[in-house]
Amino acid sequence: MLRTHTCGELRLENIDKEVTLAGWVQRVRNKGGLIWVDLRDRYGVTQLIFEEGDADKSLLEKAASLGREFVVQAKGTVIERTSKNDKLPTGDIEVKASEIIILNKAKVPPFIIEDETDGGEDLRMKFRYLDLRRPNVRKKLQLRHRMMQETRRYMDVEGFMEVETPVLIKSTPEGARDFVVPSRINQGEFYALPQSPQTFKQLLMVSGFDRYFQIVKCFRDEDLRADRQPEFTQIDCEMSFVDQEDILQTFEGLIRHLFREVKGLELGEFARMDYSEAMRQYGNDKPDTRFEMKFVELNDVAQGQGFKVFDDAELVVGICAKGAATHTRKQLDALTDWVKRPQIGAKGLVYVKCNEDGSFKSSVDKFFDQQALAQWANKMGAAQGDLLLVLSGEENAVRKQLSELRLKLGEELGLRDKSDYKPLWVLDFPLLEWDEETHRYHAMHHPFTSPKIEDVELLASDPGRVRANAYDLVINGVEIGGGSIRIHDKQLQELMFKNLGFTEEEAKAQFGFLMEAFEYGAPPHGGIAFGFDRLCAIFGGTDSIRDYIAFPKNNSGRDVMIDSPSKISDDQLEELSIQLLKKKPL
Ligand code: AMO
Repeated sequence: MLRTHTCGELRLENIDKEVTLAGWVQRVRNKGGLIWVDLRDRYGVTQLIFEEGDADKSLLEKAASLGREFVVQAKGTVIERTSKNDKLPTGDIEVKASEIIILNKAKVPPFIIEDETDGGEDLRMKFRYLDLRRPNVRKKLQLRHRMMQETRRYMDVEGFMEVETPVLIKSTPEGARDFVVPSRINQGEFYALPQSPQTFKQLLMVSGFDRYFQIVKCFRDEDLRADRQPEFTQIDCEMSFVDQEDILQTFEGLIRHLFREVKGLELGEFARMDYSEAMRQYGNDKPDTRFEMKFVELNDVAQGQGFKVFDDAELVVGICAKGAATHTRKQLDALTDWVKRPQIGAKGLVYVKCNEDGSFKSSVDKFFDQQALAQWANKMGAAQGDLLLVLSGEENAVRKQLSELRLKLGEELGLRDKSDYKPLWVLDFPLLEWDEETHRYHAMHHPFTSPKIEDVELLASDPGRVRANAYDLVINGVEIGGGSIRIHDKQLQELMFKNLGFTEEEAKAQFGFLMEAFEYGAPPHGGIAFGFDRLCAIFGGTDSIRDYIAFPKNNSGRDVMIDSPSKISDDQLEELSIQLLKKKPL
């Protein structure tokens, strides 16, 4: 080994020890006859000291010549520091250098490689390998590693077998677009990259594997956001001979295990909520339950009083922000502008301040007297000092808008504490979702999800009301995982495809293999998949999953470091018999 210790290891008990360290030069401070060099590796930083006098002169010259990020090997003796640095675990000691070898020189890095850096996002992504040298970035990947190991440990103890499924497959219907790969040998034909290993894990159940899991890359060509990457990782799981409750218990166990082992936190039993309740109370199927501010419907007290906006609305609904009556006119105007932005789309915002003296001040005083406003406040459980915010309009749209406003207020009022964890199972999702664009039903989860037995007969008469045996795990308003009990019966699967508008031929062409497998003894089964990157981000307390991916894509789906996607040569195109068409506007 080129070193005896790492740069994060040495302490007072190592005083007088002869050591050899290797690492990167983080900083050089040159005081003439005295030079300090901070040497960094994955484990920490150790200060080297070079003094004039006792060592040969060339040593000092060599130290003075070191540039940032040079790779060096240093030999020396551990000594106690005269001025200690309590911010560094190695801050009580330094290494008095007797020899320094430059293992490799380095160009001046394009940004400062420390937690506090001057590098912007684009630059850091272009030089991601340098960004990864920064301790705070590296720690996020260490967290990811820990989570991965603990996941494997739990799953193994619970009897799950990790099985790898193929990456070159054919389209899986998870609702996004596929990334496709042309086949050279089969000209004009394409593989699709898996949006998830859904069909394979179901086939493994037919094979009798009984408990499967895989930490697996999935690929989805969809619009990117802070919590979405085109390639991301799932903890994908499937079990046979189980019902929904067994799955919830097993995977609540996994998440509890991770919180205990990785964060030292003991979580209580997870809360549960029906999809319909989540939509009614939070306007959202992934409610952030760290704070209340539940929706209160106000149609009965707010309509029929001459305020046309409310009278014409399908729904009038509000939230009560505790203690926020102190909001100034300026703040309220800003909130109004915010909800009116096209991304939110509300027409306006009505507010009522519940003043400390018991009176009310609202933006609709012209239409509603004090008594009427008192009725609203009463209905919303408001106290003096609270602020009521009310939106109205078409039911689905207004719930969505109010949900966004609730989250924004929660943020502003400091109610979304990142160290507070509120896991929630959302249950009983609808099986189907009406799509206005295509004028047909889509599977809300995916086409293999089983309807609730008691709702099956509704499939023919009122498909939109059929509930599914489907569940999501939500933590702090983030959808961490989702799954379902599957259909394992060929007839029911065929009926489902029919409801989704597939002709028999289409269903056969896409999923014939699965339906055929169901004829060879498919056990009842179900499963779940967790978004591993999202889980890491929740554990790490940040919103963006990119930080937890070693080499992520940017918001346009590009890897700016390797410059991908990129063109391929005409020869390659020719070999694949691909002819490029003119670019279409997106
Ligand atoms: P689903 O589509 O709900 O289910 O995906 C499971 C979880 O994966 C995460 N996720 C993502 N994370 C980052 N970037 C993305 N683009 C992205 N898309 C999804 C989410 C989500 O909850 N086969 C089913 C699971 C099953 O039924 O067992 C599936 O993939 O956290």
